[in-house]
Amino acid sequence: MTEERPAYPSLENRTARHRTLQAIGRDGTTTKPASGDCSDRKWPTYWITAASLLEWSDPYERIVDKENEPFYRWFVGGSLNAAENCIDRHLEERKNQVALRWEGKRGERRTYTYYDLYREVSAVAAALRELGVEEDDVVTIYLPKLPELPITMLACARIGALHNVVFAGFSPNALAERMQRLDSHTLVTCDGSSREETVINQKRKADTALASIEESLPTIVVDRLGSSHDMHLGGNQYDYDNLVEAFVGANVPPVPRKATDPLFHIHTSGTTGDPQRMTHATGGYLTGVAWTAQTVFDLMPGTTIWCTAGAGWITGHSYVVYGPLLLGATVVLAEGSLRYPDRYRPWEVIERNGVEVFYTTPGVIRTFMKWGESFPSSHDLSSLRLLGTVGEPISPDTWEWYYTHVGDERCPIVDTWWQTETGRVLISDRPGIDELKPGLVGRPLPGIEIQIVDEDGHELPPGESGYLTIDRPWPSMLAPLEGDRYWVLAEYWQAFSDPRADTWQYFTGDRAVIDDDGYVTILGRDDDVITIGNHRLGTAQLEAAITTVDSVTEAAAVAERTAGETALCVFATLEQGQQDRTAIRNAVADAVAEHVGEFARPTSVVFTPELPETYSGKTMYRLLECIVNDRPPTDSDTLRNPEIVGELTTIWNQE
Ligand code: PRX
Repeated sequence: MTEERPAYPSLENRTARHRTLQAIGRDGTTTKPASGDCSDRKWPTYWITAASLLEWSDPYERIVDKENEPFYRWFVGGSLNAAENCIDRHLEERKNQVALRWEGKRGERRTYTYYDLYREVSAVAAALRELGVEEDDVVTIYLPKLPELPITMLACARIGALHNVVFAGFSPNALAERMQRLDSHTLVTCDGSSREETVINQKRKADTALASIEESLPTIVVDRLGSSHDMHLGGNQYDYDNLVEAFVGANVPPVPRKATDPLFHIHTSGTTGDPQRMTHATGGYLTGVAWTAQTVFDLMPGTTIWCTAGAGWITGHSYVVYGPLLLGATVVLAEGSLRYPDRYRPWEVIERNGVEVFYTTPGVIRTFMKWGESFPSSHDLSSLRLLGTVGEPISPDTWEWYYTHVGDERCPIVDTWWQTETGRVLISDRPGIDELKPGLVGRPLPGIEIQIVDEDGHELPPGESGYLTIDRPWPSMLAPLEGDRYWVLAEYWQAFSDPRADTWQYFTGDRAVIDDDGYVTILGRDDDVITIGNHRLGTAQLEAAITTVDSVTEAAAVAERTAGETALCVFATLEQGQQDRTAIRNAVADAVAEHVGEFARPTSVVFTPELPETYSGKTMYRLLECIVNDRPPTDSDTLRNPEIVGELTTIWNQE
């Protein structure tokens, strides 16, 4: 496909606009003088340039130290405040520029300038203090996509408290677990929210969680539903608006945090294992996020970005809140579903807000494909200049559809690979600089070193698939609390443990392959691998084969284990109106045989209206595996569409 097309477009004059891009070369060399205490002359000095995107209250003394090896500490001796960097320092130049545009699901719209943000964040910070929140305390935020969500995150950061954002769709159990694990001091939630035509009582879920942990935590409640809903405030529960009114105009100086101090906690998404808490440190995280917001997303002051991720996920933390605001950009936040009130909504949001950078997941793009190109083509999307994707491999077909029907064959696409643990994008093309290859995530960004290795940790040549490892520490890498270091070490560093080897090798848990140009293709999580005979097959590889069948829109490949044998089962969704299921079933089996091998021919192909998905858009394989292997399905708590579980079980049992 790449050969057929002339070069994909670049962003005009991009290099001229970016000092940082010029300063850091692909090989990591820098135009800045070397300093720091590391023996290697190149690494890590180039991160000075990235750190200069921030305003430091105290300059750092060392770029990095190995004190907690392998958890390197970044910008040691320096101090800074995240909220000051996101808000206060912009006030002189862009006090009245819009920082946040919010669109509610019932058609409401609100805009906040940088000055508005300053006022409300300060008021909430003062209110939190009044409720007893001190530096290093944890505040749990359980809010849907409302402006109060980023505002509360920044209010925490302002007073040096750590936020712990929990996705609003999670159950009371999941919330209670996540509060308890972090000994949360305060909770911020809302009365409820509407989901399409129904009202979800968020406050009741929060109250159930609070009751189950038998604590009366101070709780702030945002009034989302207005007079239509009673907030039922109990003891130690406060109305957000009343607090803001009481504290508006408060002067809350930002608390300088050591660069190595934690900024927030977040839980990993847990499609294949239990969710775990992750922690990011202030200086390194902000440096990595600011630099990639500029380098990968081309954000400048005033650029309008819409990232569809919820703030509960790392993508939301890094590229809805911190990255854009650090660079003085304008963030679009759209509450609710992309299909409500109708399928035109995403394109209306882009047109109405003049969105320039649009960032979403392959799952969302596949949904757009399913709906058809008439939806994007009915709107003026000419404001767009850059598209992004994240979270799972994107097939070349999906990439081309996005490129053609959303990007109008003008906008480069950045396929960004990263993880909750990495804090920021590590592998991606730089738009306007690198050649784009559909379906490939590109090369590691400057300063990032990777390898593809075999079971023993030995590097594999281009073309051979293996484990993806990162071989040099980077700012914004995970900074676990002392109590978490043991399991984090076991999970990410011991995969190829040779205690005598003087190597630093972070195990990502992904399988990947590199081509001769150094471009990476992600094959899926290591645990998303199905072994048939002696062959290890990535689910992504199998699913790419299955979706070559025209009428199949989405697929999940799962292993069924009987009497020591593994058979391949396929769950697939179909385009509307597809009738001839036997023919499609045969076509799917033939496609796997053709693209992967006859040995992998699936034994069952099952059609379903939807795949079970986490809120971050990942297929929940664990649940499908339970269904095909006759185990009771677990973990529907973290599903976006829990209602599909019963339906899938019935469909499977009828097969
Ligand atoms: O398997 C990779 C996949 O998502 C995993 C990280 O998930 P999470 O921590 O929830 O963070 C998601 C947002 C950063 C990775 O280990 N992944 C992420 N980006 C891509 C991807 N797979 C393929 N292509 C990507 N661009």
